[in-house]
Amino acid sequence: MSENAKVDRVFYRSPRKSYPTAVRAEGVYIYDRKGKAYIDGSGGAVVVSIGHGVKAIEQAMLRQASRIAFAHGSQFTTEAAVELAEKIVALAPPGLERVYFLSGGSEAVETAVKMARQYQVERGIPSKYKVISRWTSYHGNTLGALALSGHTGRRKYYQPLMQHTPHIAPAYCYRCPFGREPDACALECADDLEKTILYEGPDSVSAFMAEPVVGATAGALVPREGYFQRIREICDRYDVLLIVDEVMTGVGRTGRNFAVDHWGVVPDMLVGSKGLAGGYTPIYCVVTTERVHTAIKQGSGTFVHGHTYSQNPLSCAVAAAVLDFIREHDLVPRCAAMGRYLLKRLETLYRHPIVGDVRGLGLMAGVEFVKERATKEPFDPGLKLNALIGARAFDKGLITYPGGGGADGVRGDHILLAPPFIITEEQIDRVVDILDAAIGEIAAEKKMS
Ligand SMILES: Cc1ncc(COP(=O)(O)O)c(C=O)c1O
Repeated sequence: MSENAKVDRVFYRSPRKSYPTAVRAEGVYIYDRKGKAYIDGSGGAVVVSIGHGVKAIEQAMLRQASRIAFAHGSQFTTEAAVELAEKIVALAPPGLERVYFLSGGSEAVETAVKMARQYQVERGIPSKYKVISRWTSYHGNTLGALALSGHTGRRKYYQPLMQHTPHIAPAYCYRCPFGREPDACALECADDLEKTILYEGPDSVSAFMAEPVVGATAGALVPREGYFQRIREICDRYDVLLIVDEVMTGVGRTGRNFAVDHWGVVPDMLVGSKGLAGGYTPIYCVVTTERVHTAIKQGSGTFVHGHTYSQNPLSCAVAAAVLDFIREHDLVPRCAAMGRYLLKRLETLYRHPIVGDVRGLGLMAGVEFVKERATKEPFDPGLKLNALIGARAFDKGLITYPGGGGADGVRGDHILLAPPFIITEEQIDRVVDILDAAIGEIAAEKKMS
């Protein structure tokens, strides 16, 4: 329910919860109907990139709406779509040259899966269809994307409806699945891909999909240097396409245009990104190589896929304006600099014994909670610690993105932070101060410290 509403027919995510009514947003703040300000420490769910209420975006929206708001992608192209594709290719890793537009992240993930599959068929290897992904991952909520997602809690109700797909171990240094220390490992987690490809049979594997920095399921898991390079080598060795899911990490958030740029890795497909339009409109994309595009163009000639709102000109124009804003205001290097500051400030949270790990890359950071630091034992999930801390922070006017299940699919608590790129140091101080107070209060109330 929204508070004070007499009649409210909305089917909310949590029907028992009372939601404040958001009425206005500007910069890093959202305001509710009572005038309370919330600092957007997570950009909603890692969506808001350039901040709220930017006038240039409103103007771009109006300009495009006054010309043409919609033309179906099976009948027309538009200048807005062509221009946006050009801008995305200029930002993407070299060799990614074709852009397919979508209006949802899960839709984009499934588009990549289907594009990979059709590519394998078009080039004459129809036995390749499996997509391998990782545990402790999230790729979306539609059934195909959920099947790839490695999160027990999100999967449990829908398991019978999903197709089984293989999952490998995550690159989770704090809880290394192979019992190694980050500085003394042989990248066993990357080699797990090779083993799984061999077990499944290389002739059956179409693609491997991974988030470069894991977001929703574990709170900013950054892989060790060398991990994605090794993954790329393995994919090449077995003729498997590498799909990176940059829905949270693009565009610019980690301090590079795309997170894979940190490791100089060029995937075969890149799925992006909430930050593309920064919350102003729903638009995502799959960016791929000319090789994949040509296989389909010269093969059957049609990608047997499509959604009604794909490449709609209004969304394309809005996203183009957001990318212009990011470039004109130099926001990508700013994410790197502000990210360093955020991480430094978050490290002060180690003063709470329940803070086990603080990590991140650019303006995407996570705080993981543990019962005991020495053993890294997670809390009982029945306690819903992440939700308690998130709710207390929210009451105090800070928006975070809490999550659970990182440790083993069910146990594990974290808070994900991903503020808009325009956040200042003073505003970061405020984010960390509120989170600090929320953790302290909950820990004291639950007698954890
Ligand atoms: C990495 C990743 N992929 C895919 C998705 C799904 O995007 P959407 O919620 O727009 O369907 C998300 C959403 O959080 C995500 O974090």
